Amino acid sequence: MIQALRGMKDILNPDNERFIHIINTASRIAERYGYQYIETPLLEETALFKRSVGESSDIVGKEMYQFIDKGGHDVCLRPEGTAGVVRAFIQNKLDKKGGIHRFYYHGPMFRYERPQKGRLREFHQFGCESFGEGSVYEDFTIILMIKDIFDALGIGYTIKINSLGCPECMPGYRENLVQHLHGIQEELCEDCQRRIETNPIRVLDCKVESCQNLLKSSPVIVENLCEACDSDFNTLVKLLEAHSLPFERDPKLVRGLDYYTRTAFEFVSSEIGAQSAIAGGGRYNRLVEFLDGKSTPAVGFALGIERIMELVKMPEVSREGLYLGLMEPEAIETILQLAHQQRQHETVYTEYNKKSLKAHLKAADRLGAKRCAIIGEDELKAGEIWVKDLETKEEKRIAIDQFN
Ligand code: HAM
Repeated sequence: MIQALRGMKDILNPDNERFIHIINTASRIAERYGYQYIETPLLEETALFKRSVGESSDIVGKEMYQFIDKGGHDVCLRPEGTAGVVRAFIQNKLDKKGGIHRFYYHGPMFRYERPQKGRLREFHQFGCESFGEGSVYEDFTIILMIKDIFDALGIGYTIKINSLGCPECMPGYRENLVQHLHGIQEELCEDCQRRIETNPIRVLDCKVESCQNLLKSSPVIVENLCEACDSDFNTLVKLLEAHSLPFERDPKLVRGLDYYTRTAFEFVSSEIGAQSAIAGGGRYNRLVEFLDGKSTPAVGFALGIERIMELVKMPEVSREGLYLGLMEPEAIETILQLAHQQRQHETVYTEYNKKSLKAHLKAADRLGAKRCAIIGEDELKAGEIWVKDLETKEEKRIAIDQFN
């Protein structure tokens, strides 16, 4: 039997309700914050992710579903959503237009990681990207929007924040860090030894305990920021405090993607095990220019839908819709006609096969229908339909032409 690939999952009843509820809730809130829906292709040129997420990142270096297509193009399934949205922003010349553009999206992302609880190879993100607003108030507003989304979904979290500086302050910091790392090089894990040359900042979030112990005395980014980055970081901290958001400074938060500048953040949950990041994002002021667009400040985030499905508190579901069934085959045309009539304003579940009343009621109950309407022998003769309200338990017979 052919099975789904490792790390890839079908989403069906009852998980589909959580899945849709998360997307609908997040979309509604993003729209309230002025975001518009954008859809971009799942397949993009590999070069897009190499240049944005970064060649030395794990995502690009180890985890891409990359192949040469029939036309000889080097393509890959998107490992994340930001790069494609930035490409679309530039390709549609919105960078030249100026002004502020805010987009939201949701859909599958693909990373060839080692599957485990909370870590899939195909997973779904909901994300937002805001272009053209360089102020730290936009970073704060995005964090506030994520708070609204998690509050609406009934999910608890802690926010971790850090600043990743800018081209003015980062080179100096990086030099200090590399110098420090060379001093402890021999004792670091193999990956970290390699990262000293390729991407020293990533050493900071190494998961190996002995590395973390060695890093305790390493230079801290936020103590080495230029004046502008420092001022933004302090403003963000003050705003988060003033709004009583549960946050902590995390000097080791560097994120797994290379495009960030200044604000970086993650929302983590203590309730879902090792893969605790439920959302992540930050500012990426250089990416548009990096992908050959006109320099445009930007900030965004994405949340992991599967991880949130583990945590979401679903609202009480009330019964909804109509179940239509028959106990006499000749009633089929009336059932079809009523189903079409009712579908203009409510959900209708139809059963075309003759069944006992008990079987129909059971099926209607299982589907969560509010009303169960059946045409039996007596009803057929009288031009009527029997209706039971499955909430109030009230039963009655109604003339077919009066049914609504
Ligand atoms: P990210 O932190 O790589 O950021 O992913 C965002 C979220 O996607 C994570 O916090 C996590 O909940 C979920 N996620 C990531 N990998 C997996 C996986 N293998 N299985 C299940 N869930 C996963 C980004 O992707 C950036 N594009 C976010 C962003 C948007 N930054 C600026 N704009």
